[in-house]
Amino acid sequence: MDACAAASLATLSGAMLSGFGNEFATEAVPGALPVGRNSPQRPPLGLYAEQISGTPFTVPRRESRRTWLYRIRPSADHPPYRRIAAAPALAPASPNRLRWDPIPIPDAPADFLDGLLTMLATAAGAYESGVTVHVYAANRPMRRVFCNADGELLLVPQLGRLLLVTECGRLEIAPGEIAVLPRGLRFRVGLPDGEARGYVAENHGAPLRLPELGPIGANGLANPRDFLVPAAWFEDRDEPTELVQKYLGEYWSTTLGHSPLDVVAWHGTLAPYKYDLARFNTIGTVSFDHPDPSIFTVLTAPTDTPGRANMDFVIFPPRWMVGEDTFRPPWFHRNVMTECMGLVRGVYDAKTAGFLPGGISLHGLMSAHGPDAATTERAMAAELAPHKIDDTLAFMVETSRVLHPTAFAMTCTQLQAGYDSCWNGLRKHFHP
Ligand SMILES: [Fe+2]
Repeated sequence: MDACAAASLATLSGAMLSGFGNEFATEAVPGALPVGRNSPQRPPLGLYAEQISGTPFTVPRRESRRTWLYRIRPSADHPPYRRIAAAPALAPASPNRLRWDPIPIPDAPADFLDGLLTMLATAAGAYESGVTVHVYAANRPMRRVFCNADGELLLVPQLGRLLLVTECGRLEIAPGEIAVLPRGLRFRVGLPDGEARGYVAENHGAPLRLPELGPIGANGLANPRDFLVPAAWFEDRDEPTELVQKYLGEYWSTTLGHSPLDVVAWHGTLAPYKYDLARFNTIGTVSFDHPDPSIFTVLTAPTDTPGRANMDFVIFPPRWMVGEDTFRPPWFHRNVMTECMGLVRGVYDAKTAGFLPGGISLHGLMSAHGPDAATTERAMAAELAPHKIDDTLAFMVETSRVLHPTAFAMTCTQLQAGYDSCWNGLRKHFHP
């Protein structure tokens, strides 16, 4: 366990606020939050006031995400950034189904940023909308601090916990939980278990929110009170600290004379949050046929077209299967949306083999897919007693844009050469 993690874990429980998209207010030192105004002439305790906006000022009030930070030094105090890495090159998109094995934990020292590998992206370098999907594998805590100007980051750990030390406070997430870090928020990643692997879905569009519930009613799916936001926490460290910023896909670096995680108090709607996917109220058929997998949406980022998401985060958690006269695995389909899947644990019910925890698959625009041949035969022969799909957690990042694999993804050794063959052997049953 790294020092950063050890120092904080004991104090994390109880230091959380709950609710989704609330107007939160929190202070690490009593009296640090100004009362009745955002930017007094001299904020309390000698702090600076600074606003961070996640949406334009004039969006409708229900869309607005902004937070006032009360910090030891304003963020403006930094030397010029220098470019340290180019944006990942994209390979052509194709109608082929693609799947990758999990990337191994590196042998060489690698913090979260070293181990962040970009696999899929809807575009290179233009991030007003779209999605980028990364995987990470790390074995060292970050000493530097990261800031992503390109979108909000949805973190899905698959192996090992992450300690996210952010400007707004500290969050710890374990496999089975997720965290969302707003665009532009500065943070550092500690590794309480020494190593970690997982996924990062980067949403370049409007901020993620809970899906509408329609006829489901006032409750269900992910309930707002189960989302947790950190209480204010700060460090007052006057020592050289590297700050890396991702900006239009490129990586830039500067060195501050102090830690930028120096926010003593904050209030507002733009905040990191975590969610335990075990709290998801999974809803499915109690008669026949699957609902569309949109019933499993945890969070969604809309576009300007109603119902057409820039990014949906969808899970396939443990659940009962009871459908009568129903083909119970996910049906065969071709979709106008592009689907990227990952697996946190167990076995995904549409695949018998080859889709491994930490692995990733891509089924693009109108690419035909569904259960593999072995799963199909088994499902058509199964006795349809109620049964529970247990010890599993798969997820999907779905977008209305086309995801390109990166050049790295198409050349890495984890790319599976024979993925198409899982549908070989789908037998002809036709008997007119
Ligand atoms: Fe699909």
